[in-house]
Amino acid sequence: MKNQDLTSLSNYSAAEIKNLLQTADSFSKAPKNLWPKTGINQVVCLVFFEASTRTRCSFELAAKNLGADVLNVEVSYSSLSKGESPEDMIKNLEAMGLRIFVIRHSDDHFCETLRQQLLPESIIINAGTGVSDHPTQALLDMATIQQHFSASSQSFEHLKIAIIGDVKRSRVARSDFQALKVLGCKNIHIIAPSEFISKDWQESGCSIYSSMQEGLQDVDVIIMLRIQMERLEKSIKLDSSTYTEKYQLTPKCLAWAKSSAIVMHPGPINRGVEIASDVADGAQSVILKQVALGVFIRMAVLEKALSVFAS
Ligand code: CP
Repeated sequence: MKNQDLTSLSNYSAAEIKNLLQTADSFSKAPKNLWPKTGINQVVCLVFFEASTRTRCSFELAAKNLGADVLNVEVSYSSLSKGESPEDMIKNLEAMGLRIFVIRHSDDHFCETLRQQLLPESIIINAGTGVSDHPTQALLDMATIQQHFSASSQSFEHLKIAIIGDVKRSRVARSDFQALKVLGCKNIHIIAPSEFISKDWQESGCSIYSSMQEGLQDVDVIIMLRIQMERLEKSIKLDSSTYTEKYQLTPKCLAWAKSSAIVMHPGPINRGVEIASDVADGAQSVILKQVALGVFIRMAVLEKALSVFAS
C-alpha cells in the first residue's frame, strides 16, 4: 500500500490532486451537518516548530469539523528547551499512541528525516518545511483557482499565472509550481528581481520577467509572495523602498493584467510592501477566499489520513 504521508506534491499525480480538490469542493458546498464524522479514535497531532496562524488554525478546525480530537503541541513550552531533538520529541508523542502528525519545520528535509524514525503506519502531513514544500497551501491555492474559473469553464491548461516576489525562498511558490505543472498549466510567469531567481527557477521552464508591466500582460491569476523586509537589505543588493517601488502590486500594476484577473496571497500579507492595501482589499482579491478554502482542503487531507485507521 502507498504510504499515506503528504510531505510534498512532487510525487502526487493529477488524479490525486483533483481527487482532493473535489472532496474539498464538496465539503465547501455541503451544509455542516452533512460533513462526515470519522468516529475513529484517532487524535490529530499538530507540531509547529515555526509560527503559523492560517495553517495551524485551519488544520485544527478541519480535524474538529471531522469529529477528530486534536493535540496542539505547544512547542515553545516543550522539552526542546532542555535539549531534546525535534525527532525524539515526535517519537515520544508516537509512543503515547499518536499516529497522525501535522508538522511545520524550518528544515527542507525534516519530514523525510522523520519518516526514517517513525512507525510505517504513522502519517506525516507537511504544513510547511523550509523553502521547499507547503503542499496544503498549494492545494488550497489550486482549489481557489479552480472554484473561481470553473464558472467560465476555464481549465488550468488555459490560464496564465504570474508568481511575484521572493521565489528563491518561497515554499509556497515551489509547491504551487509543482501543482500547476501537474494540472496542465503551461503559462507560468515569474516576476522578480534577478537576485531572487535561483537555479531551480531558471531551469523550471517558467517565463522570467524583471518588469511587472511585461510580466503581468494578459495574466489571469496573480500570486503575490510575502517579502521579508530584513532579508531584502541583508541578502540582496536591493533596498526595501526600491523593491516596493518596482514590485509592489498597486492598482496601476493590476491594470496590466486581465480585468478579470484574481489576486492571491498565501498570507501573512505585508500591506504597503509587496501589496497595496487597495489591492489586498479590492474587488479582485481572493485572499480571504483562499483562507476559507484552506479549512476544506485540510478536511480533505485529514479525512484521507483518518480513513487509514477506519478498519
Ligand atoms: N500561508 C501560511 O502558511 O500562513 P501561516 O504561516 O499563518 O500558516
